[in-house]
Amino acid sequence: MVQATVMVIGSGGREHALCLAFNASPLVEAIHCVPGNAGTALIATNHGVAITEDALLPLMTALDVDLVVVGPEAPLCAGLADACAKAGIPCFGPVAALAHLEGSKLHAKETMTAAGVPTADYQRIDASTDLEAALDRYAGAPWVVKRDVLAGGKGVVVTSDRDEARTFITSSIASDGFVLLEAFLPGEEASMLVVMDGTAFRCLPASQDHKRAYDGDEGPNTGGMGAYCPAPVVSSVVHRRIVERIVEPMHAYLAAQATPYRGVLFIGLMIDEHDDPYVVEFNVRFGDPECQVTLPLVNTDLYRLLHAAATDGLNEVELSIVEGSALTVVLASEGYPAAPVKGRPIGGLEEQLGSNAYGDAWVNFAGVSRDENGTYIATGGRVLSATAMGDDLAETRSRAYELLSGLSLEGGHYRTDIGHRAVDG
Ligand code: AMP
Ligand code: GLY
Repeated sequence: MVQATVMVIGSGGREHALCLAFNASPLVEAIHCVPGNAGTALIATNHGVAITEDALLPLMTALDVDLVVVGPEAPLCAGLADACAKAGIPCFGPVAALAHLEGSKLHAKETMTAAGVPTADYQRIDASTDLEAALDRYAGAPWVVKRDVLAGGKGVVVTSDRDEARTFITSSIASDGFVLLEAFLPGEEASMLVVMDGTAFRCLPASQDHKRAYDGDEGPNTGGMGAYCPAPVVSSVVHRRIVERIVEPMHAYLAAQATPYRGVLFIGLMIDEHDDPYVVEFNVRFGDPECQVTLPLVNTDLYRLLHAAATDGLNEVELSIVEGSALTVVLASEGYPAAPVKGRPIGGLEEQLGSNAYGDAWVNFAGVSRDENGTYIATGGRVLSATAMGDDLAETRSRAYELLSGLSLEGGHYRTDIGHRAVDG
């Protein structure tokens, strides 16, 4: 049997979820995380080195890693997968030219147009464009303005206020040279994670994130305040349409590149009232917190799945999915997302560590460190999430909230309505 050494790049709840799943794999002997967090430290060796090719390649070689899994998009856009390929190290995550699908919204749009994938109509706007005519063109629904940069979720404004749209367009042109104005898509959002390589693709069950900070989808946009999987909005009819209209053409395109796409394509979807799916965005990595609720439902050994995708062997791996559902609720620091207060102790976490593996309910660590006394401290905007898994989504949700109620963080906030669309109808 394989006794693999795996390296996970990143420090969030997503990376803790990846480490938990590798920890449960009989094929994995050692897990290394760069830089990791206080949760990954319990099951992996954390390394405080810079996430650069120069710092990482010698470490990968010294550890003789069998697989590198890149959590966030920035190292992929910077070419980490290209460097691994050159060094002959299997990497789960696409090369920079393909990571550009997330790095550039314009590139993503042009790719979708070329591949015939349904997405919102758009216009590229620069200083020479008649701005008022462009705003008129999309009037009657909120304006959707997108900067063409990796902006960590801050590059998109959706607004019914024409002045706000105009101001954001003008400031974006000033900093970036141009910006995209796109048609508003009505409907319900869902995320689909598709593992792919040059030989095949495997769709993981669709999930739903909750991007706004407060209950009822109010408040500012965040990285994601909670998620559940599977999302009933992706019925079997919708699923088939997503595969036929989006996944198959994208895979055909990505598999035909000089270096095929080896990793996970995150498809941000809008499902309209006719059950027709449209692409809102592509990401070139697992979603966070979507990863935390999707991986527990994957029965196939995670090492086998991701190593196969990193080495063009996915056509030999069948995906097996657990019946049931998973749900996670994010606990965020006071002031998140604008200005999170960091450095406060987290109460109750020590007591939860017995459940530090998949069971009924567990904690995914994100922005958590330990101080010199060993006390768990909140060091990020999204601190942790309480995750539960079970047969019934309503019951699963209760268990996640019950777990969260045993934790405390001064000023911390979380949404009380995660899963409302699926549980409350
Ligand atoms: P993005 O970074 O492209 O995912 O956009 C962030 C969020 O803005 C999405 O999750 C949607 O909620 C919203 N959004 C983006 N594009 C559109 C669109 N064309 N129509 C409606 N909402 C959108
Ligand atoms: N949860 C959304 C994302 O990871 O981009």
